[in-house]
Amino acid sequence: MVTEANSSPVNCRIVIRRAQGEQSLTFYASCGLSHTYERQVCMIARTMPALDDRRWTEEVAAALSETLLRVEDLHIGYRQPRGWLSVLDEVSFYVFEGEFVCFVGPSGCGKTTLLRLVAGLEQPTSGRVYLDGEEVRNPRRDVGLVFQEPTLMAWRTVQQNVMLPLELNGCRRGEACYQAQALLDLVGLAGFEDAYPAQLSGGMAQRVALARALIHDPRLLLLDEPFGALDAMTRERMSQELLRIWGARRKTVLMVTHSVNEAVLLADRVLVLSQRPASIKAEIAIDLPRPRQLETMETPAFVALTHRVREVLSREGLV
Ligand SMILES: Nc1ncnc2c1ncn2[C@@H]1O[C@H](COP(=O)(O)OP(=O)(O)OP(=O)(O)O)[C@@H](O)[C@H]1O
Ligand SMILES: [Mg+2]
Repeated sequence: MVTEANSSPVNCRIVIRRAQGEQSLTFYASCGLSHTYERQVCMIARTMPALDDRRWTEEVAAALSETLLRVEDLHIGYRQPRGWLSVLDEVSFYVFEGEFVCFVGPSGCGKTTLLRLVAGLEQPTSGRVYLDGEEVRNPRRDVGLVFQEPTLMAWRTVQQNVMLPLELNGCRRGEACYQAQALLDLVGLAGFEDAYPAQLSGGMAQRVALARALIHDPRLLLLDEPFGALDAMTRERMSQELLRIWGARRKTVLMVTHSVNEAVLLADRVLVLSQRPASIKAEIAIDLPRPRQLETMETPAFVALTHRVREVLSREGLV
């Protein structure tokens, strides 16, 4: 039996064939969609409950239409003094609008490189990145990026740091001040507007960086180990803050972290990267109910999920 559906936002036509007597389903995505994209359609479809053909088709089409970020077959390497260094190898994944996805993987495997490619700061050797159906070739204003270090300008106050992207864009000063203040309130820094970066703690500086990344109201927020340099207690508090901010703004987030606990607490899905050249070794859905608090980490479901992520890391020799 064959059913068909149109999913207009991604402008693709999906034909689903259900092979008689087989458990598995094969999906054919036409209209120039690549083989990798077909695999993504299959991945999405596998997460759907067993429904009749018509409902399956509708559900898959609906899920596809909510895909904000699509990464297809990324490869990148660098010329190094001792020869070619292959960093990413066939990395493909998708992120739905409003989803929180975490990457975990060993040091030096290419996580920062991956975020830089998604942000359009670098070009892949081959493969493509699509944001809302449009190929990313240059840095875009609808992508916010927070690095491991806050990278604030030492000679500008907290408020001036947060306002900077709007000023560079020619926004009126009064409007930029107003927007910066609203974000400083959101990240819990009201009262520190006139402080300089040297007068802040590590956690406060990262809050400023987060506010600065949010000032353009980006559709996609990329976080590269934003709490990596913080002590364990501050890091836990910042995770909670991030959950609160995410709840308030409902951004789509792609975050890199070394902490399995942090990934499971924050994410809807955890993707595990292999050693360099990195590829995706596993995808683990985190179906813990929200809102999540630090107490969530004491529940058996949380412990079981962290165990699953660690199992993959250990099976792949990544820890
Ligand atoms: N511009 C560049 N030129 C040459 N090599 C590079 C460049 N950028 C990254 N690399 C190499 O790519 C590899 C991956 O780097 P990347 O910073 O992406 O790793 P990472 O997974 O983020 O590591 P970490 O967890 O330590 O932050 C490293 O071996 C690095 O030397
Ligand atoms: Mg890195």
